Amino acid sequence: MSQKPYLKLDQIDKSFTRAGRTSEVLKGIELAIDKGEFVSIIGHSGCGKSTLLNIIAGLTPVTQGAVLLEDREVNAPGPDRAVVFQNHSLLPWLTVYENVRLAVDKVFGRAKSKAERHAWTLHNLDLVQMGHARDKRPSEISGGMKQRVGIARALAMEPKVLLLDEPFGALDALTRAHLQDSVMQIHAALGNTVIMITHDVDEAVLLSDRIVMMTNGPAAHIGEVLGVPMERPRKRLEVVSDPAYLRCREAVLRFLYERHRYVEAA
Ligand SMILES: Nc1ncnc2c1ncn2[C@@H]1O[C@H](COP(=O)(O)OP(=O)(O)OP(=O)(O)O)[C@@H](O)[C@H]1O
Ligand SMILES: [Mg+2]
Repeated sequence: MSQKPYLKLDQIDKSFTRAGRTSEVLKGIELAIDKGEFVSIIGHSGCGKSTLLNIIAGLTPVTQGAVLLEDREVNAPGPDRAVVFQNHSLLPWLTVYENVRLAVDKVFGRAKSKAERHAWTLHNLDLVQMGHARDKRPSEISGGMKQRVGIARALAMEPKVLLLDEPFGALDALTRAHLQDSVMQIHAALGNTVIMITHDVDEAVLLSDRIVMMTNGPAAHIGEVLGVPMERPRKRLEVVSDPAYLRCREAVLRFLYERHRYVEAA
């Protein structure tokens, strides 16, 4: 008997209807993801990546098909799937600590004592190296730091699946590299299952076990899935000369710029 996948996207279609007009965004999305796998989704702007992530998060209903986590359908948001959005959604009136603590209280209000929830909040802030800024408010920290707090908040929920929608998109290249390294370390230490949307080919190759490449919309589907056969831990300065890295990079670039070029909507 073949083993059931941990997370399964089962023939997902998604259409939006507005003012009597229906637009088909996703068509026939089929994917199985293993526990602990790091999967990136890459595709041109507007093809439906965020829509797909929101479907997995349970924030957007499917039109057809289903999302199955450990063989059970999930169609509403839950702490088993935590999302980090591109525009870090911290509550501005709460401190860094309180932003994470709020999620901890929500998920572990009953299971952990107050002292345990305090310690767990600090532990997760330390994981992303933000313990020192625990009493600052979002307006007092940089974009990269906000993103770290968003990641801490998501990790603190101990999600089965971590969903990242272009988590480093708004950051400068150096901050981005630091955060990528942090996410790789956290993934190695905790073994979470991660789905990350990105526009960045190098980021996708460096971080992923597999790269899911989406065709252009309308009715976007998975055009190709590329395995990244590189040992972990991966070091950014070492991989750049690894032939496997270069081959993967070229395959993704070819997919995006030769076979599925971005076409500006008329
Ligand atoms: N709530 C909605 N109602 C109607 N159309 C929507 C809705 N959400 C998304 N769409 C449409 O679905 C398509 C895919 O959008 P989506 O945000 O998923 O793309 P994306 O791949 O994440 O793009 P980007 O890379 O720019 O973030 C777009 O054409 C968008 O206009
Ligand atoms: Mg998007």
